[in-house]
Amino acid sequence: AATSNPQSKLLGFTKVPASTADTFVVPEGYVAKPLISWGDPILKGAPEFDESGTQPASAQAGQFGDNTDGMTFFPLSDDHGLLAVNNEYTNYPLLFDHRGEAMTADDVKKAQAAVGISVFEIRRTADGWEYSKDSDYNRRITANTEMMLTGPAAGDDLLKTSVDASGKKVLGTFNNCANGETPWGTYLTCEENFNGFFAKPGGGQTAREKRYGLKDDSDYQWFKFDDRFDITKEPNEPNRHGWVVEIDPMDPTSTPLKRTALGRFKHENAAVIVADNGHVVVYLGDDERGEHLYKFVSKNKYNATDKAANRNLLEEGTLYVSRFSAQPGEVKGNGEWIELTYGKNGLTKENGFNSQAEVLIYAREAATVVGATTMDRPEWVAVNHKTKTVCCTLTNNKYRGKKDNQPVGGPNPRANNKYGQIVRWNETNGDNSATTFKWDLFLVAGNPTVHNDFYAGSANINDENMFNSPDGLGFDKAGRLWILTDGKYSNEGDFAGMGNNQMLCADPETGEVRRFATGPIACEITGLTFSPDQRTVFVGVQHPGEDDKPSHFPAGGNSKPRSTIMAIQRKDGGIIGA
Ligand code: FEO
Ligand code: CA
Ligand code: CA
Ligand code: CA
Repeated sequence: AATSNPQSKLLGFTKVPASTADTFVVPEGYVAKPLISWGDPILKGAPEFDESGTQPASAQAGQFGDNTDGMTFFPLSDDHGLLAVNNEYTNYPLLFDHRGEAMTADDVKKAQAAVGISVFEIRRTADGWEYSKDSDYNRRITANTEMMLTGPAAGDDLLKTSVDASGKKVLGTFNNCANGETPWGTYLTCEENFNGFFAKPGGGQTAREKRYGLKDDSDYQWFKFDDRFDITKEPNEPNRHGWVVEIDPMDPTSTPLKRTALGRFKHENAAVIVADNGHVVVYLGDDERGEHLYKFVSKNKYNATDKAANRNLLEEGTLYVSRFSAQPGEVKGNGEWIELTYGKNGLTKENGFNSQAEVLIYAREAATVVGATTMDRPEWVAVNHKTKTVCCTLTNNKYRGKKDNQPVGGPNPRANNKYGQIVRWNETNGDNSATTFKWDLFLVAGNPTVHNDFYAGSANINDENMFNSPDGLGFDKAGRLWILTDGKYSNEGDFAGMGNNQMLCADPETGEVRRFATGPIACEITGLTFSPDQRTVFVGVQHPGEDDKPSHFPAGGNSKPRSTIMAIQRKDGGIIGA
């Protein structure tokens, strides 16, 4: 493929222009095909999708969930494997003919079946990738699937409910945003905005409930038909959500495990690397304005020769939160990881903590006590396995510079941050389990056609690659950094010329950023995974046509818009991005 900038040896594709069209656009020489859309049947006996919005809960329970998000390809070969996919939330105006305005008990069950995880077998054919409708591997995990709480907080009184005296058995996972994968072959799914599914009618939230965003009402209305979502009836049920869940995708009968050692917050993704000393490190963002960036380091070491021996590495370890420092006006500096362990760093009874379980359940509050840096909404973290360098998208933050706990500075250098940035760090001595690091900003997004100050963005942003709100992030095997956006698509004012949400690719060495793909109307691009040979990339188109915007993606015509996974290949069969 042609190069538009000879400086980068890594990027070999032709840039695509910004787009406001209702299509998915890839570079010249590439082809993108829908693999699966919301409502496609994946379990035996499930009906085909019907866009009337009247299919019952039982149909949705056997179909691909809504709002595709983080995903991982688990290979059986280069051409064949399982895709484990998060179905983050669901859009009632599309899910129901009544748009959510006349909810019934079955409608709540249907919404609960539209979220969670979908696992299904896929295969590369002469026509591109296809999913199997009735593979024995295929599985739906929903808001009602039985799972276990494990680790230091499991069994704590704060996790017990009227139906579960053990504090260990929990139903379901929802608002599964992004993901991770372990070197022992399991899928990590991250519970993000779980709070939105609960309600405390009448209000009167505690400070801790407020810190986790629990409100008196919920647009999803589950609490009206299902008592566990009514906080006045089950005050501890919200404590059982907001975790990272580990799933064995190869065993459809396995019980998903909520790993409490990784802390409870609005988890974005879980980026895993085995440090050189053998400890497993998991980087974790908490996507909320003014919340924090964490990492977990396992107590035990990875065993490269016996995969099964690693199955409980996420049970026990140390959770840390980051504190960044910088000279005034500098966008680089030092950082440290502060331990969140009961009895240390002020995490004591005097400050409201009675045990390690409480530190983990109220990790946000623990992070505040130890003086962690409040960030501009940490979204995905990605680790370059070649260099050990780590990056995190800080997507935007309208409160920066406005709220007292969110001063301008360090890795969050702009007040009223509309565009976002990517912070990058290297741990001391290249040891990912280290407690100190050096950081800088890999890029600062902006609009150089509208602004001529710091809001124009960093030097690697120009009128041909500009975007806002970086969110999804991942390195491929060659070290290309892929960036997915979840931003404003008005194409006006501060966002003029940016068009629809998009996918970009960056060269971490030269800093060049090049637009690779653009999505349809009113979508975000999220979810990213490669085939092992790096000749296919799977990318998610989430919520096309949200808020009644005029999208008919992917089927066109007058069809209902549907969240869809795209499989992207090169016509010449080459490596994606090269
Ligand atoms: Fe589900 Fe922070 O995005
Ligand atoms: Ca996200
Ligand atoms: Ca986002
Ligand atoms: Ca989203």
